[in-house]
Amino acid sequence: MLNFELQNPVKILFGKGEIAKLNTQIPKEAKVLLLYGGGSIKKNGIYNQVTSALQGYDYQEFGGIPANPEYDILLDALTIIKEQNITFLLAVGGGSVIDGVKFLSSAALYEGNEPWDILANGIRTEVGMPFGTVLTLPATGTEMNSGSVISRRSTGEKRAMGGPGLFPQFSILDPTVVASIPQRQLANGIADAYTHVMEQYMTYSVGADLQDRFAESIMNSLIATAPKLMQDPSDYKTAANFMWCCTMALNGLIQKGVPTDWAIHVIGHELTALYGIDHARTLAIIAPRHYHHFLDNKKEKLAQYGERVWNITEGSIEERAKAAIEKTEAFFHSLDIPTRLSDYTDQYEGTAEKVSETLRERGWVALGEHKAVTPEAVKTIVEGSY
Ligand code: NZQ
Ligand code: ZN
Repeated sequence: MLNFELQNPVKILFGKGEIAKLNTQIPKEAKVLLLYGGGSIKKNGIYNQVTSALQGYDYQEFGGIPANPEYDILLDALTIIKEQNITFLLAVGGGSVIDGVKFLSSAALYEGNEPWDILANGIRTEVGMPFGTVLTLPATGTEMNSGSVISRRSTGEKRAMGGPGLFPQFSILDPTVVASIPQRQLANGIADAYTHVMEQYMTYSVGADLQDRFAESIMNSLIATAPKLMQDPSDYKTAANFMWCCTMALNGLIQKGVPTDWAIHVIGHELTALYGIDHARTLAIIAPRHYHHFLDNKKEKLAQYGERVWNITEGSIEERAKAAIEKTEAFFHSLDIPTRLSDYTDQYEGTAEKVSETLRERGWVALGEHKAVTPEAVKTIVEGSY
């Protein structure tokens, strides 16, 4: 097992009715900015629950944060934060709203001229403005981690940021919010969380038995939950399992003491930047090709995954590894997620060169657990995904 440090300060309030406890979590004297997305919370009753819980607080609102949170829109919120002397941010939404609020938490205290530098120059956020979240869409795990991904459409960029100052003070996870989530976003949530686990597992063994079993059990739970969730997202038991799996998939726990990959995410983010494809779907496009390309490096882990998650027990290590990749792709298909770039855009010619060149320009020329994901490898993987 590799050495590690683990500190996750996020307080989780999990369960039906927990949104009402907002007023026990936000300091009474705070000047609050409530931030949300395109308006789903006004249709499903979450907005009413949140604003009821905020009675007695001095609060204002900022709505309209889009999926793949947009830098230029967030700058408008930043102006409000500064002009109104806001002291506490409350994100009510999915990954996009929460990530947008994490950016604002950092930017509000940033002393440089251009907040984009936080992303472009990889500036770690040691201290941010305090914020809490009410999660409305299980998927990213952002509610219990300190990372954020921000898009900038004017330059076609999608960049990540993070740091210990970007953990939420608290996150409220009420599984009843899942009932109103459209099928496409439910499928995205499963696929994103599933790939988070794979990115932290499908490397090579360091004998970390517990981490492997944690990862496998999250994947097993997601596989068991997926058809029930797609059938009836209002079933509380199913929604609760879905929600907690997504949080546990990326709250830092399962990656401690083990090597991680993350190249699928890096490549996937570029596909969203180029074509606006939903985050989770970019992962489903890249993952199968990535695992085939690096079969030699990953086959032992792929075979272990095949056996423990998909009950593949026949054949050589290589045959089992390949069968496990096929099962994974079939799982994405079972969620109605197409796994070819050409399923999403007609303009796919040249994508491989573009993505590989962008990563090269940033100096990201040796990604993955073996630093083997070179621009050439990226090009082959993306080309194989057309
Ligand atoms: O904007 P509204 O109207 O609220 O609608 C949203 C949005 O259109 C809707 N939605 C959310 N909750 C709902 C709901 N509709 C009905 N009922 C509800 N309860 O769902 C749509 C998608 O929301 P979004 O927040 O964009 O989805 P998701 O949670 O998948 O977040 C994706 C973003 O997170 C980033 C992705 O790159 C992408 O930008 N990620 C963040 C990570 C992190 N910070 O740790 C890790 C991930 O790998 C990922 O990169
Ligand atoms: Zn993801």
